[in-house]
Amino acid sequence: MPAAGLGTRFLPATKTVPKELLPVVDTPGIELIAAEAAELGATRLAIITAPNKAGVLAHFERSSELEETLMERGKTDQVEIIRRAADLIKAVPVTQDKPLGLGHAVGLAESVLDDDEDVVAVMLPDDLVLPTGVMERMAQVRAEFGGSVLCAVEVSEADVSKYGIFEIEADTKDSDVKKVKGMVEKPAIEDAPSRLAATGRYLLDRKIFDALRRITPGAGGELQLTDAIDLLIDEGHPVHIVIHQGKRHDLGNPGGYIPACVDFGLSHPVYGAQLKDAIKQILAEHEAAERIADDSQVK
Ligand code: G1P
Repeated sequence: MPAAGLGTRFLPATKTVPKELLPVVDTPGIELIAAEAAELGATRLAIITAPNKAGVLAHFERSSELEETLMERGKTDQVEIIRRAADLIKAVPVTQDKPLGLGHAVGLAESVLDDDEDVVAVMLPDDLVLPTGVMERMAQVRAEFGGSVLCAVEVSEADVSKYGIFEIEADTKDSDVKKVKGMVEKPAIEDAPSRLAATGRYLLDRKIFDALRRITPGAGGELQLTDAIDLLIDEGHPVHIVIHQGKRHDLGNPGGYIPACVDFGLSHPVYGAQLKDAIKQILAEHEAAERIADDSQVK
């Protein structure tokens, strides 16, 4: 799980708080995605962080002082809550000294793989893909076709320049699985081969590490995971996508993060009902203010 980015789309919050720890209602995004990994059966999670982001790893450690204080106060429910991240999965620290890009960050995970591990799951903590389980579907696809399998969602034309975009092989099958012919990072609208965007879940053959060593800086001057995948495709490595049909939230910017909080908030057993009423009231107030502004323009 790469978590070394600067979080520039979230300043000033991310001046001191790593963006991966920003809460969706009350739980950091990275914990939600670690829970998804654990649900899949993963027992260890390499978290790639920058030297100044120690808080991310600390979140996956036990905090005995806080636990004791909560115990003394009889807050056993809260003790459970703060133990959850550490109990979910064993976090393995990997440090990225310089922000050289997602491709560089993923490449560092090779050092913590066992010799017999021929595939690695990469999960971006910015992307909530719901309902969970898409990685299981991706594992089935890898079992059938071999190679590497990624998750895709369809995005609007205006959004293609924010993502890694797939070029897929034409076929007539009505299936959620497509073979990929190429991949390009953050293309301009006119160069985008489709509207299918990579969305934070990758099942990558170990060959990716060799490809990552051979790429040069791409979009944004960074070493891009997309470029290493494109290189493997050029060399004949099979790459497929699973087109996710459910929901997806991009926690990496306020425009995606706010709807995620509303979505999780509305489903929350404690806050849901109250939030629904509050949203209705806020909307009514905004609409009334807009009507007044429109009326005064007409006059
Ligand atoms: C990264 C990847 C991009 C992918 C996106 C998904 O971009 O480089 O290919 O589509 O994550 O969220 P970033 O969000 O780091 O700019």
